[in-house]
Amino acid sequence: MRKDVRILLVGEPKVGKTSLIMSLVSEEFPDEVPLRAEEITIPADVTPERVPTHIVDYSGRTIWLTQQLSLRSLTQKRANVICIVYSVNNKKSIEKVGLFLLEQIHQVPLILVGNKSDLVEHSSMETILPIMNQYSEIETCVECSAKNLKNISELFYYAQKAVLHPTGPLYCPEEKE
Ligand code: GTP
Ligand code: MG
Repeated sequence: MRKDVRILLVGEPKVGKTSLIMSLVSEEFPDEVPLRAEEITIPADVTPERVPTHIVDYSGRTIWLTQQLSLRSLTQKRANVICIVYSVNNKKSIEKVGLFLLEQIHQVPLILVGNKSDLVEHSSMETILPIMNQYSEIETCVECSAKNLKNISELFYYAQKAVLHPTGPLYCPEEKE
């Protein structure tokens, strides 16, 4: 039995990573957020899977743009699952998801997170599905809104579940050229 779960959020600047974490913790949308949230720990008894869960935020400014920090080094920071966040109203942030995946070797399950669903009428699934189908490490994708609190607890539940009950093969070097 695993003793804890460590969730990392990465993504382009301003897609709402820090807001997602703050919305989960305070159950309301924060008007202002720091660039990066402090690491938080959710006690076992309030998580659906009864496992202490750490949530770690990375500012897009420091890692995503420069790509100094690869998923590999992120997982060396003991991440068990990585949520790659994009904004559903920002095409560039979706393209970055694809680019980032292409350059990385994945050792943990990944979750694609389309934030700011309150700003659009249409779903981003059509764009994201082809990316998802390319990578077996992507456990699931979810559209959510830090602002409306839509799918926020679900998102963190999916992340927890991806670690505790993975469905896909995680690391298949022979499949990658
Ligand atoms: P970096 O730390 O710079 O990488 O950005 P971030 O991904 O942490 O984004 P942050 O949480 O700072 O949010 C960026 C902006 O988007 C802020 O103005 C938020 O208020 C806004 N925002 C975040 N989530 C949502 C959302 O679900 N809906 C809407 N409409 N705005 C949001
Ligand atoms: Mg931030």
